[in-house]
Amino acid sequence: MLFQNTDRLEEIWKAVKHELHRGALDVKHPFHWVNLGTVSGEFPSVRTLVLRKLTQELDFLFFTDYRSEKCRELRVNQNVTLHFYHPKKQVQIRVKAQSNLHFQNELAAKFWNEIPPHRRSEYTGAQAPGTSISHPQEGWEDGNSSDHFFSVLEFSPVEIEALQLRREGHLRVRFSKKADWEGIWLVP
Ligand SMILES: Cc1cc2nc3c(=O)[nH]c(=O)nc-3n(C[C@H](O)[C@H](O)[C@H](O)COP(=O)(O)O)c2cc1C
Repeated sequence: MLFQNTDRLEEIWKAVKHELHRGALDVKHPFHWVNLGTVSGEFPSVRTLVLRKLTQELDFLFFTDYRSEKCRELRVNQNVTLHFYHPKKQVQIRVKAQSNLHFQNELAAKFWNEIPPHRRSEYTGAQAPGTSISHPQEGWEDGNSSDHFFSVLEFSPVEIEALQLRREGHLRVRFSKKADWEGIWLVP
């Protein structure tokens, strides 16, 4: 359990932030894998991403190929939702955030330099992710690593909601940036 009905909202806010930070740092933590929802035409788009970093300012950072569909969608609509679930603690976290796409800039260059050469091929494919191909092997063809498509997705939260499942009664809280991250209880 991450939080109880007897906890103060400030304590719950601290616990939520702590758990999110653990997700970024610990590859075995369930919050290391995040479902990212973007706005895309008629259907919402959702996919799994690895949470690479959570800054002290609470910005969530992810790595991706700039040619991917998600980047195209983010250029049209910068609003996203991040979804986390911790099966042992039975807690769901949903984060509404606004995105900032870093490609061929200082921040992208800083993280690119930290990626070991043998892990760089995910961002140097000859063809864009999602391109139709005749054989699976075509999807593994490497392009030019000096002309890579590595990009950093930065998501700044505007609202964070946590749902704690409990036999005694579920608990739901919402924290909003516009309320200076003060929390309120919600009907679960
Ligand atoms: C466990 C897991 C982790 C993943 N991590 C990433 C990631 O960190 N970055 C990324 O771009 N894609 C990652 N993917 C692939 C995405 O889920 C997705 O298939 C891909 O980015 C293309 O998405 P798009 O077409 O919506 O842009 C991951 C997939 C899985 C199953």
